[in-house]
Amino acid sequence: MAVCPGPADHRLLGPPCSPRAHVFLPLLFFLWTLLSCGLRGAAQGPGEWTPWGSWSRCSSSCGRGVSVRSRRCVRLPGEEPCWGDSHEYRLCQLLDCPLGTMPFRDLQCALYNGHPVLGTQNTYRWVPFHGAPNLCDLNCLAEGHAFYHSFGRVLDGTPCTPGAQGLCVAGRCLSAGCDGLLGSGTLEDRCGLCGGANDSCLFVQRVFRDAGAFAGYWNVTLIPAGARHIRVAQRSRNHLALVARDGRYVLNGDGALSPPGTYEAAGTRVTYTRGAGPEETLQAAGPTSQELLLQVLLREPNPGVHFEFWLPRESYGPFQARAQALGWPLRQPQPREVEPPRAETVVAPEASPARVASLAPDTCGPCPDSRGRAHRLLHYCGSDFVFQARVLGRHRQAQETRYEVRVLLIYKNRTPLRSREYVWAPGPCPCPPLAPRREYLLAARRLVSPDGTQDRLLLPHAGYARPWSPAEDSRVRLAARRCPA
Ligand SMILES: *[C@@H]1O[C@H](CO)[C@@H](O)[C@H](O)[C@H]1NC(C)=O
Ligand SMILES: *[C@@H]1O[C@H](CO)[C@@H](O)[C@H](O)[C@H]1NC(C)=O
Repeated sequence: MAVCPGPADHRLLGPPCSPRAHVFLPLLFFLWTLLSCGLRGAAQGPGEWTPWGSWSRCSSSCGRGVSVRSRRCVRLPGEEPCWGDSHEYRLCQLLDCPLGTMPFRDLQCALYNGHPVLGTQNTYRWVPFHGAPNLCDLNCLAEGHAFYHSFGRVLDGTPCTPGAQGLCVAGRCLSAGCDGLLGSGTLEDRCGLCGGANDSCLFVQRVFRDAGAFAGYWNVTLIPAGARHIRVAQRSRNHLALVARDGRYVLNGDGALSPPGTYEAAGTRVTYTRGAGPEETLQAAGPTSQELLLQVLLREPNPGVHFEFWLPRESYGPFQARAQALGWPLRQPQPREVEPPRAETVVAPEASPARVASLAPDTCGPCPDSRGRAHRLLHYCGSDFVFQARVLGRHRQAQETRYEVRVLLIYKNRTPLRSREYVWAPGPCPCPPLAPRREYLLAARRLVSPDGTQDRLLLPHAGYARPWSPAEDSRVRLAARRCPA
């Protein structure tokens, strides 16, 4: 059989008519070298995992069990073992077992019934023994006798203890993370996102201090639908009250006190406690399916009702708007809410030359360099607020500069931000300077005076204030994930 290529010009380049192997072996060797040196960095570092295999069938035929999948480590000569686990276990939940089904652990003990064990001809009936140290050993008690025996590990998927969440896998008791993987330790964040970084929702926290002019019910706050991790507390002889959307009281309505306990409201369970001292709390995990109205029933001057919850980002704007419309002040001092004529708001050089001339930008020295990732991270993580804002006006004084800004987009907040805020910066020449009518990404701190009368947003010297751009926006979102917990 002819193995040589036909065309004559081939013979000029390649070896004269030769068996196929002579041509392809050097080629194969060349490809192998390319793979191992070029792509794998000179055969150092770890090997590579094959893709995961498929999940096995559930270890049990009813109730809870585990399913496993595995992968193999492919290593070239000189490579280290792969990083990570070769097996992954996940929880599988089938229909509940019929009443009277023998539990998995009982079944495993019972397999030794009637068989001679312990090196004698004696046989016993075995039932699970739960008092031994390792929960994932098959510890079985000889019925009617005062000893137990350990028959090694229980099978994967056996509950660690009856009724508990953990399941035994390879002799260890593991619980499922919110991703369903056993032992992953992944938790739901405050926004209800599995493995999230709390950045798809915003935190609302406030103390309602308004003193009512008469005894009776006073509105504290609306709690919008979608709220999570609601906590309310107050210490006085006053009482918290909760109103559902249909206007009916969930608790402490019509002047009558409800007993402490758990109440169903807006699709969640609200736990109400009333201590022996004058103290009350409300807690609910949420998310709420409808809005709730929190009130306080005043009997004496109000020392303060603390409340907090987490809101989906999209619910935050409407919540702020309604809170403002109802006249619930959220921060002082507050910018005027009526939009004044532009010339008045923006202190542009041509608008008031007298004042600005002495403080023209060129009389301000250069600012320290505050660019870079480390700087952004430092300020993002250390700030109480990070938001996009448009500068509406600037007012310079000897001690400080006050910017009036419109809040456009909130990345992080510890307390609610209004749509218009004052932001204060130290001195008449703040660093970095903000120009009127421009949009910035700002990281600000909350500064509350010791007597609680002044609550301000502070832009620290050499802090983070960058002109807003889509690129800066993504860098800030990235920084959000890097903050230490
Ligand atoms: C989310 O916020 C809660 C409460 O502030 C905190 O305990 C938790 O560590 C945060 N999670 C992440 C991933 O930052
Ligand atoms: C309390 O809030 C509810 C719901 O927004 C409103 O209908 C009611 O008029 C408010 N009551 C007072 C006294 O402001």
